[in-house]
Formats: sequence, C-alpha cells, structure tokens
Amino acid sequence: MNRQRPLRALVTLGPTHEPMDEVRFIGNRSSGRMGTEIARALAERGCGVRVLAGPCQPAGLDSLPDVRRFRTAEELRDLLRTDWPAFDLLIMAAAVADWRPRTVRAGKTRRSDAPPLVELEPVPEILGTLSSRPDQFVVGFALEPATDLLASARAKLARKRADCIVANPLETMDAPTVEGTLVWPDGAVERAEEGACTKSAFAKWLVDRVLPKADARLSIR
Ligand code: CTP
Repeated sequence: MNRQRPLRALVTLGPTHEPMDEVRFIGNRSSGRMGTEIARALAERGCGVRVLAGPCQPAGLDSLPDVRRFRTAEELRDLLRTDWPAFDLLIMAAAVADWRPRTVRAGKTRRSDAPPLVELEPVPEILGTLSSRPDQFVVGFALEPATDLLASARAKLARKRADCIVANPLETMDAPTVEGTLVWPDGAVERAEEGACTKSAFAKWLVDRVLPKADARLSIR
C-alpha cells in the first residue's frame, strides 16, 4: 500500500480477569487467538502494530514485538487512554467483562469461611466512551447469538462509536474457526465465505477490507 508512513495499529485481545480476592477472579473464555491473528496480518502488511493483551497465551503472540499486558478492564481502559492518541487504527477484539466484584477481599478467602456472597457491579463501557479523532479508524467486535447477529451488531455500531463491527456468533469464542460478518454504517454486510474459516484466514480477509478505509482516513489529517 502506498503510504507516507506505516499505518500504526493498536490491537486489544483476550479476556479480562476481575478479582474477587487476591487469588480468585471472574474471567471469560476468550483465547486471544482472533486478535493475535489480526495483529500478525497487520504486521505482514507493513503496519506498526502494538498489542494490548489480556491474561492469555495464544500461539503467535510471543512473536509480536510490541505487546503490553492488562489484567482488568480498568487496566485496559487506562492503557487505551494513554496509547490510542498515537495510533491510526484500533481493533478492539478484547472480551471485556460486563460485571466485576464490587469489592475485592484482602488476602485469600478460606474454604472454611462462609461461602462468600459476591456482589457484582457493571464494568463501564470502554470503546463507546473512548475519544477518537476524525483521522482515526475504529473496529469493534460483537459476540452474539446467531439468531440476533445483525440487529445486535448494528445497534453496537452506534453504541460503540465504531466505524465497523465484526459480528461473531457465540460459538467463535475459544474455537479454532470463525464465522465472522463485517457490518458497515451504510448498512452493507460482508461475509468472509460460506461457513467457518480459520481465524488466520479470517484475519487476513478482515485486514484487507479495513486497511484501505483506515488509510483513507489518514489523509484527513
Ligand atoms: N467492550 C468495551 N467495554 C465493555 C464491554 C465491551 O469496550 N465494558 C467492547 C468489546 O471489546 C467489543 C465490543 O465492546 O469490541 C462489544 O463487546 P460485547 O461483549 O459483544 O458487547 P457488550 O457491550 O458487552 O454488550 P452485550 O454483552 O450486552 O452484548
């Protein structure tokens, strides 16, 4: 691609772990594989890539040169606030918790203690509250039941203030394959191919669709 400088891409991936006490957490099954494949595909196409990775160790993550770690949604939010202004493209593939324990107990809760009642509180929205400039391009993800996929993805486009949404059926989580759909603000919908494809093949397909749009934004500056 003919750029004046390499496009700088920030990719978030993996789950968050929200602590209950100093040894236990509430997490989710995200493996970080999809985000890792996207980061690799972006690097292969000449982008400068930084990864913000949750607690996961997918194959290939080690080979990426610029990886920063978060554990909780709050840590991810803080990293994004600091890093995003220096990037052009955000791929928000992290599976952020929706709820977290309201209080974190000190030390370790013992088995002999009374079973703890864990009160949860909502995790504040990260992507939908992130400030972006007109020259930046944002790709959000949506994990949805297959029956509700497109309607929910369209609703998330606006709520997440994203330039497009990658909608995945629930079965994608922690799976080797993906059946992703790209949803654009003008109503257009693109499917990679009929049926599921590998996360690596889907990542290349996705990057080839998103990069020209992100490149076009750069000229706004
Ligand atoms: N996301 C976020 N902040 C949150 C939760 C999610 O920025 N607190 C981001 C995810 O990284 C993803 C997108 O929002 O890019 C959609 O995440 P998803 O879990 O599908 O949607 P939710 O907003 O959590 O809504 P719901 O669980 O009701 O579908």
